[in-house]
Amino acid sequence: MIRNVIIVNLLLFVVVVSLLGFRGAKSRKEPIEVFPDMDRQAKYLPQGENPFFSNGMNDRLPPLNSVERGNELKLKSVFSRDYSGERLTDTALLYGRDASGDWVKGFPIPVNRDQMRLGQEKFDLFCSVCHGPAGDGAGIVRNYGMVAANLVQDLYREQSEGELFNTASWGKGLMMGYADRMSPEERWAVILYVRALQRANSATLDEIPPSKRKELGL
Ligand code: HEC
Repeated sequence: MIRNVIIVNLLLFVVVVSLLGFRGAKSRKEPIEVFPDMDRQAKYLPQGENPFFSNGMNDRLPPLNSVERGNELKLKSVFSRDYSGERLTDTALLYGRDASGDWVKGFPIPVNRDQMRLGQEKFDLFCSVCHGPAGDGAGIVRNYGMVAANLVQDLYREQSEGELFNTASWGKGLMMGYADRMSPEERWAVILYVRALQRANSATLDEIPPSKRKELGL
C-alpha cells in the first residue's frame, strides 16, 4: 500500500517536472510543433510580399467603383436601376477633401435649421461627454482626469470644415473616430453645430435678443 503511494507520487513528480519544470529554460532546438499545418498555412497575409505582382505585394486594390460591403449606403438604393453612384466619388462629402486632396471649406450638405438640429442631437450624444455641451472641453470625463480639446478656441475656429470633419470621422491623437456610428451627412451636421458653438462662444451681450437675456440672468 505505502509502496503504491510512493510510486504514484514519484510518477506525478516526474510528470509535473517534465511538463512545467523547464518552462522559461532557453533552448536552441526548434520547438515541438503540435499542429504544423496550422502554424504554416499556404495563404496570403495582409501586407505580405508577393513576387507574382509587379509591385511585390499581396494586397490588391478593389476594382474601380466596387461597393464596400457593410457601409452606410442603403443596399437597396445602391443596387437599384437608377442609382447614379455620384456619392461614391464625392470626396468632399465622404472625406472632407476636394478633388486635389485639400481640406474642404464650407459644407457639402444643405445648411439649414434641420441640419443644425440634427448636428446638435448627434453632438450631444457623441461628443459632449468629452468636449462638453458647449464645446469648450468641459465634458463630464474631465472629472475623471481626461482632457479633451476645447473646440471653441481660435485654433479650431481657423481649422477648415474638412479637417474638423476628418477628426470627427477618423479621430486624431487620443480621440477615436465616429465614422462607424454616424453617416457622412450626420458627421457634417455635427461640424455645422460645432461652428454654431464657436459662434455662440464669441457672441456679445448686444447680440442676444432682450427676451433671451432674462433667461440667461443677464
Ligand atoms: C472619449 C472622449 C472624446 C469624444 C467622445 C470626442 N472627442 Fe474629440 N477629442 C478628444 C480628445 C482627448 C482630443 C485631443 C486629441 C489629441 O490631441 O490627442 C480631441 C480632439 C478633438 C478635435 C481637435 C483635433 C485637432 O485637430 O487637434 C476635434 C475637432 C474634435 N475632437 C471633435 C470631436 C467631435 C466632433 C466629436 C463627436 C463626434 C468628438 N470630438 C468626440 C476626446 C473626445
